[in-house]
Amino acid sequence: MNVKKVLMGGGATLLLLFVAVQFVPVDRTNPPVTTRARVPSDVEPLLRRACFDCHSNETKWPWYSRVAPVSWLVADHVKDGRKNLNFSTWPVLDPGAESHLLHEIEEVIEEGEMPLKSYLLGHPEARLSDAEKNMILRWAGSGD
Ligand code: HEC
Repeated sequence: MNVKKVLMGGGATLLLLFVAVQFVPVDRTNPPVTTRARVPSDVEPLLRRACFDCHSNETKWPWYSRVAPVSWLVADHVKDGRKNLNFSTWPVLDPGAESHLLHEIEEVIEEGEMPLKSYLLGHPEARLSDAEKNMILRWAGSGD
């Protein structure tokens, strides 16, 4: 067997596969903002910086969100993120649902679960200082 030929064949197959998966459709839409969360003006920029890409309909899709297979991971995070909490479809008329969300936000900030670690790799600016976490906690904690 000719090793060089086998390697080249393998490389060509991988390349073809890579090109082929680019055609798998990925949902990168930003649906309309319907009911924006009312957030104090000192807290909103923090949420925009650290949370909005996955928890709002104002996602800034990075270049790598256009390249499969990473794009699938990014789109999945946004889909799951919006499902759990969406600052663009905030339950403004449902105090129960609102205080539930605020409580969850409090929890993930206290436990340092959000923003996701994998997101911080590509977005170091999304890291929150302790003072910034406290600002979010003061807002989210005032709901209950
Ligand atoms: C990279 C995308 C991403 C970013 C950025 C992000 N989240 Fe999330 N978030 C998710 C995903 C995905 C889920 C659902 C799955 C899970 O719980 O891990 C989630 C779940 C949540 C939940 C639901 C509770 C739970 O434990 O499931 C809350 C509350 C939350 N995020 C708050 C935040 C806040 C606040 C920020 C900003 C400080 C933030 N997230 C930043 C992706 C993200």
